[in-house]
This record gives sequence, C-alpha cells and structure tokens, in this order.
Amino acid sequence: MVARIIPAPVSVQERGGSFRLTENTRSKIEYRLDPKCGLPPEGYTLNVTRTRVKAVASTPAGLFYAKQTLRQLTDGDRIPCVSIKDYPRYSWRGFHVDPCRHFQSVEDLKAMIDVMAQYKINTMHWHLTDDQGWRIEIRKYPRLTSVGAWRTEWDGGVHGGFYTQDEVREVVAYAAERFITIVPEIEMPGHAVAAIRAYPELSCTEEPVGSFSTWGSPDIVLCPGKEKMFEFLDDVIAEVSALFPGEYIHIGGDECKKTRWQKCPACQARIKAEGLSATADATPEERLQSYAVKRMEGILAKYGKKLIGWDEILEGGLSPNATVMSWRGEKGGIAAAERGHQVIMTPSHDGMYLDHYQGDPKIEPETISGDNTLEKVYSYNPSIPVKGVQGNLWSEYIYSEAQRQYMFFPRAFAIAEIGWTLPENKDFTAFCTAVDRACEDLDARGINYHIPMPEQPGGSYNHVAFLDKAVLEFTTTRPMRMVYTLDGSEPTPESATYEGPLEFTSDATLRIACVTSYGKMGKARTIDIRKDTLRPAKILDGKPSIMLRTTYGFFLDWSEIPSGAFWTEPRPIDSFRDIPRQEPTHYNMMGLNFYAAEATGYIKVPEDGVYVLSTLFDQLWVDGEKLIDNGREVKKHSRQDAGIALRKGYHQVTVRFLSNVRGGWTTARNRGEILIRKADNT
Ligand code: ACM
Ligand code: ZN
Repeated sequence: MVARIIPAPVSVQERGGSFRLTENTRSKIEYRLDPKCGLPPEGYTLNVTRTRVKAVASTPAGLFYAKQTLRQLTDGDRIPCVSIKDYPRYSWRGFHVDPCRHFQSVEDLKAMIDVMAQYKINTMHWHLTDDQGWRIEIRKYPRLTSVGAWRTEWDGGVHGGFYTQDEVREVVAYAAERFITIVPEIEMPGHAVAAIRAYPELSCTEEPVGSFSTWGSPDIVLCPGKEKMFEFLDDVIAEVSALFPGEYIHIGGDECKKTRWQKCPACQARIKAEGLSATADATPEERLQSYAVKRMEGILAKYGKKLIGWDEILEGGLSPNATVMSWRGEKGGIAAAERGHQVIMTPSHDGMYLDHYQGDPKIEPETISGDNTLEKVYSYNPSIPVKGVQGNLWSEYIYSEAQRQYMFFPRAFAIAEIGWTLPENKDFTAFCTAVDRACEDLDARGINYHIPMPEQPGGSYNHVAFLDKAVLEFTTTRPMRMVYTLDGSEPTPESATYEGPLEFTSDATLRIACVTSYGKMGKARTIDIRKDTLRPAKILDGKPSIMLRTTYGFFLDWSEIPSGAFWTEPRPIDSFRDIPRQEPTHYNMMGLNFYAAEATGYIKVPEDGVYVLSTLFDQLWVDGEKLIDNGREVKKHSRQDAGIALRKGYHQVTVRFLSNVRGGWTTARNRGEILIRKADNT
C-alpha cells in the first residue's frame, strides 16, 4: 500500500514493487525543472519505478512539492513504485499566526513554517500589530516597540517581545526557501491600542493609554480625521513593504468601534469635507472607515503592494482593488466576489479558526469559543470559487508555545488538504490514517499536538454522582482507541480497551485516555464516581431571598482574601446573575473594579434525582458542601461541572465570585449563573 499523502494528490497510480534507497541509487533520483512541461504552477509529476525516481515540474515550487510527496512516500529505505500527477486546487493556501496576544519566538515560528511547507502550505499571514502588542521594529517610530511591545499583566508579570527588522528578514528568507510567502498584517484603524500607547496623538482624544492586557475590541482606535495618522501609516508601510517581497499587505480593518469617531471633531470634519453622509446601507462613520481603507490602498500602491483586509472593509464601500478575507462566515467573501474582487475564505465557525475548541469545552483547555473539531475543519469546502483558504490561529487563550502547537496540529493538516486537494479526493477516514503518521513526525520534531480526550456525549464532567448506578459512555472527535483503569493508575496502551458504556454501582475512580495507532497516550481524564444519597430539601414560603456581601480588592484566589477584610453588610439581590454586575465595570480594562462577592440563596429542584451543576463562579456550595471549585482557572467556560443527588424542593447554595482578570479574561464579563441539568447517565 502506498502511504496516504497529505494533502491528497490529484492522482496516484500504484505500480507495485519499490525503489530501494542505497548510497548507489541516490543518484537515480532526478528533479527536472521544465517550464514547458504543461503542468500548472506548483504542480508536479512524480514517477517511481524499481530503478529510478523522476520528478518534473514547471516551477521550483513544484519540484519542492514533489520532494515533500516523496518524503511522505518513503518507508524506511523503500519508495513504493507510483505514478503521481499533482497540482493545487488554490493558489493561496494559508495559515495565520498571532504573536500579538502572546508572543512567538523566531525559532518557534520557524518550526511551524518547516512543518507547514512539508504539507504544501504556501502563505503565512503574520498578524504583527494589535491592541496588546506591536511586534515589528519600525525605525522611524521606536516607541512602537520600546513601549508598544510590552504589557503588564494583571498578575504583575510583563509580557512582550518584538521582531527586529533583521529577524523579520531572516524569517521571510527562511519561509521563501520553503516556498512560503509571508503576508504581514498592520492593523488599522481598530486593534491599534499598542500603537496609540506609543503615540497617543494617533487617536481621536490623544489621551495617554495604559498597557492593554485584556481581550476584546476596545473603542480606542486610530483617528482617520487626522492627516498625521495617514503619514504615520505611510511611514510604517514604507518600512514594512521593504521587508516583505510578497505582493500583499494585510491592513486588518476588522472590529473597529466607531463610537469615538462620532464625537471627534477631526473625524466629523473629515466626514463633512469628503461628503461621507449616511447612505441606505452605511453610516457616516462606516464610510469614514471605507475612506481610510481606500487611502491605505493608495499608500500600498505607492510601494507596489496590494491590499487585503478582513471582510469589514466591505462596510461603507470596498476599495477598488481590495482582496477580501472572509472571516465572519462566507457572506462577506460572496459579496466581494460578486463585485469582482478576489477572496480568501477563513470563515471562523466553518472550521477555519484554529483558536476555537477542537473537543468538548468542558475538558479541553480554555479557548475563545466555538466548535471546530478536526472533522469539521476537514469538511470545509468554499461554496464559491475563491483565490484560496486559510486557517487562523489567534492567541488570546494561548499561554505557551506547547499550547499554540496543540491548537494548530493536527487541524493545520486539514487546512493544508482543503487548500490543495480536489473535493472528490478528500476522505476523512483515509486522512485520519495519514494524520497519525504526520503526528509521529511531529513527535520526532518535539512539536506538541492535540490527541482527543474521551468525551461524555451529554457534556463531559469529572465528578459523577449516582443513586443506583452510573452508566458512562465515551466518544472521541476522531476515530481512536480508548483505554482505562479503575485502580487509579495512569492508563497505558496495555490497559483495558473501552468497548462500550461502563456501568458502576459503587464508588470508583475511572482514568480514561485515548491511545494513538502508534502507541502514544493522550491526556488521561480522572473521573470520580460517587454513590450519593438524596440531599433533603427545604420547604420555603414565597420567593427565597439571595443575600450578598462584598469586599474590595484584586484576588486571584479566594484564599488571598485577608481574614480581617472589611465586608459589606449582607444585602438582598434579585438573582445570582446580578453578582458580576454588582460594581460598575467598563468593557475595556480602564474603570474595572475588583472585588470579592459571596451570596447565599436557594435553587429549586423540580423532582428527586441526580443533577449536574455548572457555574463560572469561583466556588459553588450546595447544602453546606463545596461542590465546585474553579480555582485559578481562566473562567470563560466552566470546566468543573459536578453531580449531586437532590430531593425535590429548595436547596441552599452559596456562591463565591472574584471580579478579577486572569489570562486576559475579565470575570465581570461572565454570566453569573448556576446551571443545573438532570444527569443522563444514572
Ligand atoms: C478577526 O477574527 N477579528 C478577524
Ligand atoms: Zn478622530
């Protein structure tokens, strides 16, 4: 059998037999560049017989890709005899990285480039500027990096880094040797707080701004009313375009809040002077953004570059020659294509955002949101003809390089296949087999990747309660064997294989994990299964009150609250939902108030039974027992759900909440909820 190649080639014919690699036969491998061979750019043919190997392509990129295919075909000292004809579906096969939210070293980036080139990715979108950090040296504006590249985190740490121009040239050259073109992104007019911190005169109010270390889309944006803002961008583009030989520069354009423009005399004067009055489908401020993007197109043209931007650049009118990167679904891309523009599809919820969850959020590490399993990523197929596709890896919730790799691989292999392979040649089962081999390769390089965890279909949780028996069922996001132990020991490939639902009638500790076809263990889950008795309920007259008390301070853990802290007198509130909103907060980090809150009230249970409770509060106590402790987690999605047996009626609950910022997430943005559902596995 010929090894399944990623991305699957256009055609593969197996010939039987193999070519043996020895010192003597290495000279029988020929790479021939033939501009007249008739193959599309980047395409190649590869013929392996028992006596020779011959690759032909019309471009050096094509020969490079033939070599990558040959590498994947090679099994020890054998290359199976095949005849392959291959070329890409799309000319833009991209991946995106975000070193702004969490910095990525040159070395780590090169490791990613190395791997992606092997899978015939040809474009890297380098998101170099954002609110939380400016990552590229600009000689004319040294404060962009001396100030804008560093931020103070809420736990007191300093995070940052930037690429010198020499480093940028080094990465560009490194990628070019692997036929990857780098498209730099310089964000305007939103997502530019780092630049505004360095040069406040670029904003509408010109007010000084502190370092930005929470996520979101702040209303502090560049001021297109001011000529000096365009002069600044022109200067930046002058330096950037000299560093990147590719034809495109990405100008961002997404998520720009326009509230300040409404009040800014310069912006309003510009709107008046340029006649940007409201139209049926655009506000004056949207037209102002469109005006700014059009001026960017002119600036880029001066330096011989073409403009690409996120699909928001459609709002208020698209620049004449813009290429659109469609991220909010395909809608923007379709609208742009209808007007004759080039389109890159990166629809976030259709699988192209690799910062989204790839398994059950209840057990996976925190991410921004979403549900982009490997299978979902793989199944994406643009609904219209486009220039290309790209997988995007934003890094808000990526706190280490190992985590960045975990989010990226193996889904990046699916991106590579979507970009290259004809839909009729896609096959998820065959792809998964090839993914295993590709992941073994990652192991050899010391690169981390996602191995599924066994998941409970109704929502995974590790604290299972039952009355008579618990029946636990597990699934995986891609086909993989599951193994488990019941004695508390770490599962190994030799542990019992999960064959079907597991039944428990007494207390147990289940440890369960996936094991790959090549014997590597995924992360083991530890599930505590506990026989419970129905907790007695209280009978209450009328609506029970919820009493809240608070104390001020920035605490990352409940244990940090001093014993002598001053607490307010308990006061009644209407709903647990009100707790995070007890104190005034602001969407961006200025004006956030930090405090601890404790509230005691009741929840009503409709009938006797075992329930699973879920909360984003720091702690949840039920009938005097601590059921959930979210500890120091980034509390954006709950990951500590727990079961408990409750009688019909009212049960006393106490919640503890810390208004703080952890990992860039502001807990005041949590919905203050206690979610309760009937356990479906008992
Ligand atoms: C984006 O994800 N804001 C382009
Ligand atoms: Zn302004």
